[in-house]
Amino acid sequence: MTRALNNILITGGAGFIGSNFIHYLSGQKDFQGRIINADCLTYAGNPENLAEIEEKWGGKRYFFVKANIRDHASMKALFSKYNIDTVIHFAAESHVDRSIYGPKEFIDTNIIGTFTLLESARESWKERDDVLFHHISTDEVFGSLGEKGAFSEETPYRPNSPYSASKASSDHLVRAYFMTYGLPATISNCSNNYGPYQFPEKMIPLMILNALEGKDLPVYGDGQNIRDWLYVRDHCDAVWTIVNKGKKGETYNVGGENEWKNIDLVRLLCRQVSDLTGRSSDEYTDRIRFVKDRPGHDRRYAINCGKIKKELGWKPSCHFEQGLLETIVWYRDHSPWVNNVKNGSYKEWVEKHYHG
Ligand code: NAD
Ligand code: TYD
Repeated sequence: MTRALNNILITGGAGFIGSNFIHYLSGQKDFQGRIINADCLTYAGNPENLAEIEEKWGGKRYFFVKANIRDHASMKALFSKYNIDTVIHFAAESHVDRSIYGPKEFIDTNIIGTFTLLESARESWKERDDVLFHHISTDEVFGSLGEKGAFSEETPYRPNSPYSASKASSDHLVRAYFMTYGLPATISNCSNNYGPYQFPEKMIPLMILNALEGKDLPVYGDGQNIRDWLYVRDHCDAVWTIVNKGKKGETYNVGGENEWKNIDLVRLLCRQVSDLTGRSSDEYTDRIRFVKDRPGHDRRYAINCGKIKKELGWKPSCHFEQGLLETIVWYRDHSPWVNNVKNGSYKEWVEKHYHG
């Protein structure tokens, strides 16, 4: 049975990865269908990210719907109105630090919201098997690694933050809907993304903007924590590959094969910013401050993405130093976007938690 792929419901499409994905999809010649973007526009959702798409395809092949995935009636109505045959589920509360200060939203959106969406899909699709529910998840569900090894699809779940625990729960629900009801579903667990349109509370955009604005660069703990970084476009490519070729009921790990200690990454970023501004690198590195560590801070993430490489032919393609440089340039050149984002609740929250 081939997949329909005519009417794709993208949840959370106004956020960082979702909006990058919609840009990516609009450039895919093999896709001729419609995109329905359902997003309730939390602090992290910014429809401005999709202004060009709205201009080009709005009301024809692109439809933005302000809706909450926790609202069953709205979700059911969307499935029926747009004859949805594919769901790519990005919507989530996504920031670990926020989950520490206020976990409830994470439980409500990531667990109850995913459950509500799964129910809507099950009720709407019934026995159809040309449909697909693709769930976007994180490598953080696997917990923290020691110095060696990498997460594979068989690694047991050991989430350590309210964020990762809520994502782990949502992954289990998706799997259970496949096993119990036969809902055609796939899951991907991806490492840390970076690139344009990322809300500047996450490490890379926060460090870029602080460096450009002459502010301190707050590194948590001893700065030796390790993350695997993937350019967001490579993640989008992995998701589209899975949606087209992934096997129902399967999980795919996605990563950049690109591990960095936080402190080394911040130093690289300082060098790149200094190359762009012509100021000395020390001017930026002198602003590095080791600040109080995040509670339950996972030490190391690393992804073994051998399965998606071997079975579906995907691989990361963006070289990190190049991708990081392009990201710095993007933030430097998009000050209206940055200012708009900063006028929102972002500023208040970041001031309170990072500079207070
Ligand atoms: P983001 O916070 O930038 O965007 C989330 C989007 O979801 C926003 O547009 C927000 O308005 C929307 N949203 C939140 N709650 C909603 C609700 N109840 N109903 C409808 N819309 C809602 O997040 P992101 O970084 O783009 O992450 C997208 C997905 O990818 C998440 O599921 C996240 O867990 C996963 N992921 C992220 C990363 C990363 O590095 N950012 C890595 C791996 C996986
Ligand atoms: P983050 O971007 O929040 O992603 P995640 O927690 O999902 O991995 O953080 C990436 C790493 O950077 C993580 O080890 C925490 C660290 N970090 C800092 O050192 N300083 C900061 O200001 C932030 C936001 C993160």
